[in-house]
Amino acid sequence: MSIAKLTLEGKEIELPTYRGTEEELGIDIGQLRGQTGAITVDPGFGNSGSCNSEITFINGEQGILRYRGYPIEELAENTTFPEVSYLLIYGELPSKEQLQSFREKLTYHSMIHEDMKKFFEGYPPTAHPMAILSSMVSSLSTYYPEMAEEDGDLNVLRLLAKVKTIAAYAYKKSIGQPFIYPRNDLSYCANFLHMMFAVPTEPYDVPKVLEDALNVLLILHADHEQNCSTSTVRMVCSSQADIFASISAGICALSGPLHGGANQKVLEMLEMIQQDGGDYKKYVNLAKDKNSDFRLMGFGHRVYKNFDPRATILRKTADEVLNNLGQTDPMLDIAKHLAEVALSDEYFVEKKLYPNVDFYSGILYRAMGIPTDMFTVMFALGRLPGWLAHWKELRDDPHSRIYRPRQIYTGATQREIVPIEKR
Ligand code: CMC
Repeated sequence: MSIAKLTLEGKEIELPTYRGTEEELGIDIGQLRGQTGAITVDPGFGNSGSCNSEITFINGEQGILRYRGYPIEELAENTTFPEVSYLLIYGELPSKEQLQSFREKLTYHSMIHEDMKKFFEGYPPTAHPMAILSSMVSSLSTYYPEMAEEDGDLNVLRLLAKVKTIAAYAYKKSIGQPFIYPRNDLSYCANFLHMMFAVPTEPYDVPKVLEDALNVLLILHADHEQNCSTSTVRMVCSSQADIFASISAGICALSGPLHGGANQKVLEMLEMIQQDGGDYKKYVNLAKDKNSDFRLMGFGHRVYKNFDPRATILRKTADEVLNNLGQTDPMLDIAKHLAEVALSDEYFVEKKLYPNVDFYSGILYRAMGIPTDMFTVMFALGRLPGWLAHWKELRDDPHSRIYRPRQIYTGATQREIVPIEKR
C-alpha cells in the first residue's frame, strides 16, 4: 500500500491510502486532525469519499456505470426493474424462486392504508407531486414503526411496493380522478401504469411498449453511488433515524433542479425554445453567456466527463418508443439539434458538458403520457432501490458513525453584546 506524505507548517506526516476493487485510490485522512490540528476543505465534496461502498461503480472519464459489477447496458437489455432492485439491495441477481418470492412480496404490500387516502384530500390541487410523495413517505413511519432490525428489512419491501402506489395516487389527485387500486396479476411496471392511467369506467390494457420502456427508465435511474439524494439518505440514516425519514429526505434532495428536478426543467426548456420559434442556437449562446444565469438543462455532470451511458441508452429507447407508438415529437428534434450543437461547440467540449440522463428521459415520459410535473417523481421511483441499498449498507456496517462534517469558521470572532438602545 502506498503512503501519502503531507508537509504542513514544517511538519511531515504520513497518511495511509486505500485502493478500491477498480483501482480507485483514496487517501485516508482519519488521523489528519489528530496529528496536525488541520482539516480538509472540499466544498461540494468533489474530492471527498464519504464511505466505502460495494453497490455501484462509476468511471466518469470512460462513461462506465455498473451495479454490483454488471454493466448498465446489459442490465437495461436483459433484466427487469424488480430484478435490478433485488440486485442492488441484496447484492446478487435473484434466482427464479427468489425473484418469484420478491415479486409476490412487492405485490402483497402494494396497497396503502385506507386512512392514508384521506391525506391526499388535504393538499391543494396545485401541490407538486414531489412534495406530496416526500410527505406521504414520511407519514408511513406512523403506520410501520421500527422496533427491531427486522422491521427495517420489511419496511424496505413496503417502501418498494407502496411508493409506486403513492406516486400514482398523487397524479390521480392532481387531475381529480378516483384512485385506482393496484392489481396483483400485473408486473411492477404494468401495475404502476395501470394505477396511473386506468379509469373505473373503461377497461385499460397496459401497452407492452410502455411497460418495457418504463422498465428501462427505472433501471437506468436505480442507483448512482454517492449523489446528492443518496448522500442525504445516508446522512439521515447515520443518525439512526428510521427508514421512512431517510427516504423522505432523499426525495426532498432529489427534487432540486440541479439534481432530479432537471428532467422537468429540460422539458420546460424545450417547450420554451419551441414557443420561441425553435431557435436553439440562441439558447446555446445564452448558456455560454457569463452575464446570464441560463444553463442548458440536461447538460453536464459532476462525474461524467465523457458521456453519460444512461443518456446514450435513452436516446435510442426514445427513438424506438416514438416509432412504435407512431408518434413524432418536435421536442425530440429540438433536443437532437441542441445536443449536436452543444457537442461540437468549443464551450461545451472544453468544459466536458454532455447530455445527461435527464436530457432524454423527459421526451420518453411525455411519449408515455406522463405529465411534466410527474417527471421527478418517476426519477424517485427509479432511484428508490438505490437509496434502500445504501440505507441497508450503512445500517449493516458495524463501523458506521454519525455523519458529521467539520467546517472552517469565517464569521466574527468573539465580541460583546451592545445593549439594544445603543445598537
Ligand atoms: N449549461 C451551461 N454551462 C454549464 C452547464 C450547463 N448545463 N453545466 C455546467 N456549466 C458550466 C458552469 O457554468 C461552469 O463554468 P465555469 O467553470 O466557467 O464557471 C462549469 O461548466 C462547471 O460547472 P459546475 O456547476 O461547477 O459543475 P458541477 O459539477 O458543480 O455541476 C451540474 C454539475 C449537473 C449541477 C451542472 O452541470 C448543471 O447545472 N447542469 C444542468 C442541470 C442538470 O442537468 N442536472 C442533472 C444532472 S444528471 C441527473 C442527476 O444525477 O441528478
